[in-house]
Amino acid sequence: MPVIDLEKCTRCLKCEKDCPARAITIETGEISDACIHCGHCVAICPEMAVKPDFGEIFLLQPPSVTPEDFRNLTAGIRTCRSYQQKEIPEEVLLQLVDNMKHYPSASNARPIQITIVRSNEKVKLLNDLTAEALIRMFSLITSPVISLVIRLFIPSLDVKKLKRYKTAFAELNKTNDSQICHHAPAVMLFHGEVSKTGMAEADANIWATYTSIYANTMGLGTCFNGFIVKAMGKKSKLNTQFNVPANHQVYASLLIGYPKVKYKNEASRPEPKVSLL
Ligand SMILES: Cc1cc2nc3c(=O)[nH]c(=O)nc-3n(C[C@H](O)[C@H](O)[C@H](O)COP(=O)(O)O)c2cc1C
Repeated sequence: MPVIDLEKCTRCLKCEKDCPARAITIETGEISDACIHCGHCVAICPEMAVKPDFGEIFLLQPPSVTPEDFRNLTAGIRTCRSYQQKEIPEEVLLQLVDNMKHYPSASNARPIQITIVRSNEKVKLLNDLTAEALIRMFSLITSPVISLVIRLFIPSLDVKKLKRYKTAFAELNKTNDSQICHHAPAVMLFHGEVSKTGMAEADANIWATYTSIYANTMGLGTCFNGFIVKAMGKKSKLNTQFNVPANHQVYASLLIGYPKVKYKNEASRPEPKVSLL
């Protein structure tokens, strides 16, 4: 639990009012077990009178990213599918992981764990097992009986298109030895316990997104990888091979490496439809 130093506290009540769990009673300096350990009380206190339950307090630096900077940064971040064969130093990977402590999490539950696959052999294994799992999955979905059943629930399912995709995917897999992982020097897996009530999937995708942006500011390129997420679904046999606990599911995956290509132009794409109410 964070601890309020009532000697330093000026009773401004900023912490009490900002606490999302309404866990603080400043009169007595008590924090109830409704606390979700988000650290808002620590962050808002002008007197640094709230001691965090974890780590130190640092003064925030004034933000240096302008809206224009952010716009330009995001316009320039493109999916990278072509990587230099250059190892990412371990400290850089750990720097990416360290910053995850700042990323949001539903109810501040922070259920996500990270596995970084970074040896060439392991990345190749991940590539091959993912491709195999997907080909098996495609074959099952497009088989006459199963596709008939699935179409009862999803009438819009285009089985012919799926079959063509499966054939093209399997063909390419024979000639491309890194169809999934694009020879990336590292693959980050964001996994958490399988739960019907938690929001691990949302957390994982948010953490992967922030990580992708942070990595790009370091000159790295990234690629979200839906193939790996599909292959490492619930109770996936692949889990044990990649140190993912059996009761976990991989909810997001990011290829990371130094890019071989540079993009010079901003390619416009349609804005999403918007309803202003
Ligand atoms: C959730 C998600 C999953 C994705 N999965 C893959 C993937 O498995 N393989 C791949 O090459 N690209 C994958 N991508 C990248 C998209 O294809 C890419 O974002 C899209 O084509 C737009 O290009 P851009 O990221 O360069 O703007 C994925 C992107 C997202 C957001």
